[in-house]
Amino acid sequence: MVIKIEALTKIYPSRTGAPPVYALNNISLDVQKGDIYGIIGMSGAGKTTLIRCLTALEPPTEGGVWIEGEEISTLSKKELRCARKKIGMIFQHFNLFSSRTALENVLYPMEIVNRQNLARAEELLELVGLKGKKHAYPAQLSGGEKQRVGIARALACSPAVLLCDEATSSLDPKTTQTILDLLVELNNTLGLTIILITHQMEVVKKICTRVAVLEHGEIIEEGRVEDLFAAPSHPTTKQFLQCLVHELPDRFLPKVEGKELIRLSFKGEGAEQPIISRLIKNYEVEVNILLGGIDSLRTTTIGNLVVELSGSQEEIRKARSFLESQGVICEVIR
Ligand SMILES: Nc1ncnc2c1ncn2[C@@H]1O[C@H](COP(=O)(O)OP(=O)(O)O)[C@@H](O)[C@H]1O
Ligand SMILES: [Mg+2]
Repeated sequence: MVIKIEALTKIYPSRTGAPPVYALNNISLDVQKGDIYGIIGMSGAGKTTLIRCLTALEPPTEGGVWIEGEEISTLSKKELRCARKKIGMIFQHFNLFSSRTALENVLYPMEIVNRQNLARAEELLELVGLKGKKHAYPAQLSGGEKQRVGIARALACSPAVLLCDEATSSLDPKTTQTILDLLVELNNTLGLTIILITHQMEVVKKICTRVAVLEHGEIIEEGRVEDLFAAPSHPTTKQFLQCLVHELPDRFLPKVEGKELIRLSFKGEGAEQPIISRLIKNYEVEVNILLGGIDSLRTTTIGNLVVELSGSQEEIRKARSFLESQGVICEVIR
């Protein structure tokens, strides 16, 4: 396990007599080697506080953080400097030194400039696709290129984990995609473990293997990305997902006698089976397809269909248990 967060609580005392703020409330999660772990939450959810606790900039009120088995809050200053090198970070606004070249930025965390480090910095710039830009200053680079320098710099001390704090939030969609592709490539080739903090479900969908949803300092849902996409259970998670799926027009929502509105989720191979045609052939129900789409996740494909089933209550019930027996997740909307 690369990172273990156990029962982490962070309370900020209030200054004005208002109640204290529970920025993080009893958070536990494990990040395994090779994970691309998404932590998604809206503004104020506690994401920055979590990062500050992970990097020991903020001591926990209760609970703890372990990096490669070491509890960071118990470390001396010197040990902490070493432990911090195990976490490489990239940021929304890149945080590069504007008066240093790309190469000098990457060299910076290595402290000593010698031939070996110089060679390593050049190698890292090549790895992120910036071979020809090593002498460029940040002002001469595009947003995507600046983030590539940020990634190379974050890898300078061979960290155990790369922590990405809204790393694509100020990039356009196409550049975002190229940076996400690079992260996946580093995950594949170096086995790099990544924690990705974001407010964009799109980013989680594209590259994460696991995800935790943070709200008011608590983890309200956690699991494999494909499970969360197929069957989100918390309303906030559904809200995050809603921006990815089409909304059903309101006129379909009122209850109609003898009709049931269901959202069907198919995972992986299920998405390719002719389940709906079998349903129509074998049961006395009519199936009206209202919405549908396929999401490509990092690990699998998820199909979503919203259908209206018409028929007797008994036949609709049978139809639903047939679907469930085929591994389709059914959520009755009304
Ligand atoms: N230094 C601080 N002192 C008091 N309250 C804070 C401090 N930092 C953050 N908070 C509060 O903790 C909560 C979580 O904040 P934050 O971690 O910044 O959320 P996010 O990064 O998800 O937007 C918010 O209610 C915020 O106002
Ligand atoms: Mg924040």
